[in-house]
Parts: sequence; C-alpha cells; structure tokens
Amino acid sequence: MSLGKCAVIYYSQSGTTKQIAEAIKAKANADMYFVEPEKEYTGYIASIIRVGKEKLTRRPAKLKTEVADFASYDAIFIGFPVWYGTVPPFFQEYLKQCDLKGKRVIPFATTIKTGKDASLNTLKEILPEADIDINNYYFAAKNDKPDVNQWLDDLMK
Ligand SMILES: Cc1cc2nc3c(=O)[nH]c(=O)nc-3n(C[C@H](O)[C@H](O)[C@H](O)COP(=O)(O)O)c2cc1C
Repeated sequence: MSLGKCAVIYYSQSGTTKQIAEAIKAKANADMYFVEPEKEYTGYIASIIRVGKEKLTRRPAKLKTEVADFASYDAIFIGFPVWYGTVPPFFQEYLKQCDLKGKRVIPFATTIKTGKDASLNTLKEILPEADIDINNYYFAAKNDKPDVNQWLDDLMK
C-alpha cells in the first residue's frame, strides 16, 4: 500500500534522528519540516542542564519554526530524540499547535536507552485527534536499532 503524500516533522540535536528523517525523505519522497527552537541547543551536557531547567520551570524553549498546514498530507512521520524519558518539551509545543485531526501519524524516536512507551503515551496525549499508527512506531536505542530500510519497505508494501 502506498503511503500517499508524506511529510516528516522532526527535530534532531546531534544528527541521529536526522538520519532516519533523511531515509524517509529518500524512500517516501516526503516533504521535510525541521522544527527549531529560537535558541538552538548545543552540546550534550549543556542541553541536559538547559532542558532540566526548562522542565523545572515548565517553560519550554520558544519556537522559531512556524506551524505549517498539513491538510494535504496522507501520512505524517513525527520524529525526535528522547529527552528526559519522552518527547522534547519545545517539540511538544509545536505538535500541539498542528492540526493533525484524523491524520495517519507514524512516530519515530531515537534514544540512548529509555523512553519507548512514555514517548508514545506523550504523543497520544498531545495529539488526541490524530490517528497514531502505533504498530509502525519506529524506536531506535543505541544498542537496539531496527533496520530503517526494512521498516520503510514494510510500510510501503
Ligand atoms: C537533553 C537530553 C536529554 C536526553 N534524555 C535521554 C533519556 O531520558 N534517555 C535516553 O536514553 N537518552 C536520552 N538522551 C539521549 C538522546 O535521546 C540520544 O542521544 C538521541 O539519539 C539523540 O538524537 P539526535 O542526535 O537526533 O539529537 C538525551 C539527550 C539530551 C541532549
């Protein structure tokens, strides 16, 4: 089954999630929507400290990227690195503003280790009207990465 017209909404701080986004672009000819905060996150430790503060104060980073119109898409891939066990806070704020009602959403995430179920639960909470394709959720940990091309081939069967 063809996926139809695809979009990829994603964030990647150090390039791991970006590699998957690029694979989707190549295979599914998807339009890319990279979501950026006003002030970019640089470096692992600095990001850990900054996000920790943002979580404590419940003030996610402000968004630089404006919300787009996804009405014409049949499938929307949503990808992110796991931060503090789940979806990065500023990226959550972006998604909350997107109108994805009834849209097929295919999530993908990268992590060192944790956050598989919690990330999916967060997505369900913030996108209650989207049709989240939980069976095709792609989750890549440092030591356990499913084959990206196989995943995409299966999706396109
Ligand atoms: C602020 C921050 C928080 C993170 N929190 C977690 C975490 O809770 N669990 C985990 O296994 N990895 C965590 N990581 C590691 C990233 O999820 C992992 O390195 C990811 O693949 C990076 O993707 P990227 O290169 O696309 O940014 C964290 C990284 C950062 C920068």
